[in-house]
Amino acid sequence: MSDKKNIPSTESYKGVRDFYPKDMFVQNYIFSVMRTVAERYGYVEYGASILEPAELYRSKTSEEIVSEQTYTFTDRGEREVTLRPEMTPTLARMIAAKRRELAFPLRWYSIPNVFRYERPQRGRLREHWQLNADIFGVASIESEVEIISLAYHVMKKFGAKDEDFEIRINSRKLAQAYLEEKLFDRAHYPTAARLVDRKEKMTPKEFEEEWQKISSHSFDMNIAPNELVNDVIKGLATRDIKNVTFYPTLMRGFDYYIDVVFEVFDTNPKNNRSLFGGGRYDNLLEIFGEDSIPAVGFGMGDVTIRDFLETRGLLPEYRPSTDVYLIPISASDLPAAQKIAYTLRTSGINVAVDLTDKKVGDKIKLADKQSIHFALFVGEAEVKNEAYKLKNLRTQEEKTLPVEEVVRFVKGL
Ligand code: HAM
Repeated sequence: MSDKKNIPSTESYKGVRDFYPKDMFVQNYIFSVMRTVAERYGYVEYGASILEPAELYRSKTSEEIVSEQTYTFTDRGEREVTLRPEMTPTLARMIAAKRRELAFPLRWYSIPNVFRYERPQRGRLREHWQLNADIFGVASIESEVEIISLAYHVMKKFGAKDEDFEIRINSRKLAQAYLEEKLFDRAHYPTAARLVDRKEKMTPKEFEEEWQKISSHSFDMNIAPNELVNDVIKGLATRDIKNVTFYPTLMRGFDYYIDVVFEVFDTNPKNNRSLFGGGRYDNLLEIFGEDSIPAVGFGMGDVTIRDFLETRGLLPEYRPSTDVYLIPISASDLPAAQKIAYTLRTSGINVAVDLTDKKVGDKIKLADKQSIHFALFVGEAEVKNEAYKLKNLRTQEEKTLPVEEVVRFVKGL
């Protein structure tokens, strides 16, 4: 430790998070809600490596993400490798590889971490986790309705009220036809789409300047929804989902979406990033030389949902996985305490045994500092009487109980 310059920083890499136990608790809670709802809808889990050949992202994904936001490196065998910036190309690759063996309609979900080299800010980091739920093989709008319902019910399961979030939907085909009419040249449509997509992040002047490069008309998107959008909205209404709006400037950044796109927004202005986004992308399998398959899905990020829950006071109270802190009254009681710990563990109780030589009062403080709910004391008298003092550190309530009763009590039976 003599050369200070070589001491690494204790800070994590820019834009990624460390998960201390309390953060991990929140993360696990978020994942468990996502998983429960996805599985309720009959979606089964898949997974893949975070490493992908860089070429996977070169066609048909998103210009901005591929050219400016991917983490790409060359491995020791001179192969270009990318840390996945999203899951959809991986999913399409996996389905293309086994298409003949898989049963369609296919409903899959995953909660991968993905990496984007973005400027870190509220709601935007360089690594985030994303629930992805996708349905393959259904061409009708039943896909869109099901996928958006699933997303809606994830929000409900988190305790959100309808007025806490807004589901925005648009048809890219409708927007394209409308925009193309206004452009100098139809070939400018991809530029126009990207510009409209960024509109809310730009000042009106910045937007105007860019718009005038491709159009002589003044910009507006005063259009009525088409039948497709109306049908999706109606389909959702029959399922009692009403916080849905037609949003003609919603474009979504990826090139693979072909028609219906949607995003869910937090209605609290503090959280101005989308909670999730998705759409229909029937043609993505074509990049692997396969015929297209109808596909609709979405991604929902853990960062924005955490902000949402925090802002609304919906985060669960921390509770460690350890149920009992087992305290030997003196050092000689440790072997007896270990025996009891063994019995409790075989009964399904999570136990940490105190191994310090601190005073009993300080041992209790240690348990409290870790938010452990119960302390159980083992001393000579307790061993002799086969009854142990159990203290609820929240309520300060104490009881002296035989081990079997301790188990029942801690389990809340
Ligand atoms: P996306 O809109 O890029 O879509 O991401 C989906 C969600 O991930 C966003 O709404 C947001 O909650 C979260 N997210 C995106 N970037 C970041 C970031 N830098 N930091 C924190 N959270 C972020 C997709 O990725 C599509 N592949 C989704 C999809 C699945 N479409 C069809 N199937």
